[in-house]
Amino acid sequence: MKIHLPVRKTILNRRTYEAPAEGRSDKLARYFGVRSEELLLTNGGDDALRVFFDTFVEPGSGILICEPTFPMYRYYAEIYDARISILRYGSEMEFPLEGVIAALRKKPRVLFIANPNNPTGTLLQEQELRRILKAGTHTAVVMDEAYAEFSGFSAIPWIQKNPQLFVARTFSKVAGLAALRLGAVIACKESLTMVRRAMPPFPVNLAALVAMEAAVSDQPTMQAYVQTVKRLRAWFAAELVKLNVKTYASAGNFLLANFGPSGPALFQKLEKQGILLRERSKDIGPGFVRITVGTPSEMRRLLKAIIEQWRIPA
Ligand SMILES: Cc1ncc(COP(=O)(O)O)c(C=O)c1O
Repeated sequence: MKIHLPVRKTILNRRTYEAPAEGRSDKLARYFGVRSEELLLTNGGDDALRVFFDTFVEPGSGILICEPTFPMYRYYAEIYDARISILRYGSEMEFPLEGVIAALRKKPRVLFIANPNNPTGTLLQEQELRRILKAGTHTAVVMDEAYAEFSGFSAIPWIQKNPQLFVARTFSKVAGLAALRLGAVIACKESLTMVRRAMPPFPVNLAALVAMEAAVSDQPTMQAYVQTVKRLRAWFAAELVKLNVKTYASAGNFLLANFGPSGPALFQKLEKQGILLRERSKDIGPGFVRITVGTPSEMRRLLKAIIEQWRIPA
């Protein structure tokens, strides 16, 4: 399998200052099970996505995404004037595998897959990833694993044999460090060198690094949190099903649910009580909402409010 990474000529040719590797990345490399040359730290998860535009995308370059998904891929694509090809998740929020395989024939510069996907919760199967990597030999295949700790699956062990594969991670979700901004890009050494050439030299602040060290040195707390989220997610989904609300299997720390046409009025009532859900009526359909799993008492309060406020359709 011959891989051709579509690196911008400007990036290949640039000569000034090369950033020194971040001294603390060793500890994080261990957390991810990689060598420090296979890891690059970024200013949060969003920044771990932007680097692919700086490395590979020129005005008019093709990028491929599957919607509904995390909006930052489209956001950056607009800023960088990329040509965006969009496929849709299926009616049961299944990944559009055949469409992606066909679209890869057109050699988009970058394919972004949130795995698990925000907001659908969809998790790619290993067999699907294998087919994507086989078809995407001229494309940077970015697996955005912002929620990997909750799904239990990561493509990181695949980087050695797949130089077109890049994994983006963040400490905003499992470690709750969103406001401190720490993300990472993981790829085989040679591929990551290209991304490094497109990076500013000092993207990460000390407060984020200190907080990350505290988080990764306390695995039991993170693991307990993941277990709590999974338990609450399953319980809450079952409660919604009892109320006749359609939910979708989720591998993230959230749940996609469809309350139907009377959903938007419910979400407004909940908002007035200070309960904020991420309504997706506009881009998925009326009454769709993404519910982030909170603490046990928050989830009990939400369920109670739904039962009290929601007019169940006849
Ligand atoms: C799929 C996905 N990727 C990346 C991010 C970005 O995370 P960060 O807060 O670290 O920028 C998010 C945040 O919601 C996300 O849902």
